[in-house]
Amino acid sequence: MKGVKVDQLNGDYQITNDLPKPIPEPNQLLVKPIFGAVNPVDELMRNSGILITSWPWTPCCDVAGVVVEIGSGVTKFKVGDQVFGCQGVGFPGSGGAAEYCLFREDITFKKPDRISSAEAATIGVGNQTAALGLWGGLNIAIPDPQNLPPISDEWVLVLGGGGSVGGYAVQLSKLSGYKVITSVSARSVGAAVAYGADETVDYKTSADEQIAKIKEITKGKLHRIIDTTAFNASFVKQVLEAIKDDAGEKYFASVNDWEDFGPLPGDVKFYPISVGTLGRPESKELNEALSKYVAAVQVLIDVGKVKPGEYTLIDGTGFESFIEAVKVQSGGSAKKVVAHLQEE
Ligand SMILES: NC(=O)c1ccc[n+]([C@@H]2O[C@H](COP(=O)([O-])OP(=O)(O)OC[C@H]3O[C@@H](n4cnc5c(N)ncnc54)[C@H](OP(=O)(O)O)[C@@H]3O)[C@@H](O)[C@H]2O)c1
Repeated sequence: MKGVKVDQLNGDYQITNDLPKPIPEPNQLLVKPIFGAVNPVDELMRNSGILITSWPWTPCCDVAGVVVEIGSGVTKFKVGDQVFGCQGVGFPGSGGAAEYCLFREDITFKKPDRISSAEAATIGVGNQTAALGLWGGLNIAIPDPQNLPPISDEWVLVLGGGGSVGGYAVQLSKLSGYKVITSVSARSVGAAVAYGADETVDYKTSADEQIAKIKEITKGKLHRIIDTTAFNASFVKQVLEAIKDDAGEKYFASVNDWEDFGPLPGDVKFYPISVGTLGRPESKELNEALSKYVAAVQVLIDVGKVKPGEYTLIDGTGFESFIEAVKVQSGGSAKKVVAHLQEE
């Protein structure tokens, strides 16, 4: 089948006709990707080989598409359904920049009419990562989507609330009953506020200035911090130092799951967020957790409580547009970059 491949570590993205068409397992769907969004992990994988089980490798882990075949055990989806999400990376059949890819029934979202397919393609990775960080790592209960909790006086500090993971961390924190303060640069203030942030601090100001503002606003009610940027270990240590005498256990989750942060000040539970192996049969615990989060978020998307962020759509249709999308994202786009991979 046609699609994008990279033959070797650091190799170029190439368009090819020689990819094997994946065959769905009993719990899988064969999906025709229509839109695909780029994530930082695409280039990270190409440059480092991380998470790639065999070459050639096909990128794109955020997909919206249509179900063309179902595995023998699938009950929730049928041929023709519009679906989206992130299904895993680096293993055969996972790459969305191809004529077909595999989805797992238990971590697949069904696209409601209220969002477009292009918007749907932007949700998966960011949302799953934020959900894992908050509900898996920060001791925040998954809210009942039919009966959302009132906002308490407890705060979540989201580092990077204008980005993809950060935007969903803001939205899900609010929907889980927390107030949100988030660090952003000037260009991302509008996005963070649109996601529901109560307060913002500018990460380009000094750490002392940011911490003084965080302390003044949260007034001893900050026990949860999520770093959605991977660049904030030393800043988080300074924040934790500043709040260490406030009563109560603190929680810190980070998308940086590779660095040893050493001892953290105060009474802190650290949770490294690690979504990279989702969708693989051996990742039983992770898949089970994500399937619970998908079920809750599905309802929230259906009723318009979780909203996709803004995105940039690459001109044209075809797998080449995904390669162009990677270039645009790597150039420092503040928005998610989406490619129209093929006609439905
Ligand atoms: N561990 C995992 O399982 C996992 C899963 C998914 C993603 N990730 C990682 O998570 C990171 C974010 O991914 P993403 O898709 O959300 O990227 P993204 O959409 O590009 O967002 C990154 C955000 O970080 C902000 N930022 C940069 N430096 C900052 C700082 N010092 N303080 C606060 N905010 C800062 C940027 O804000 P401005 O635009 O305003 O500069 C931008 O909004 C990436 O490194 C990705 O590889 C890890």
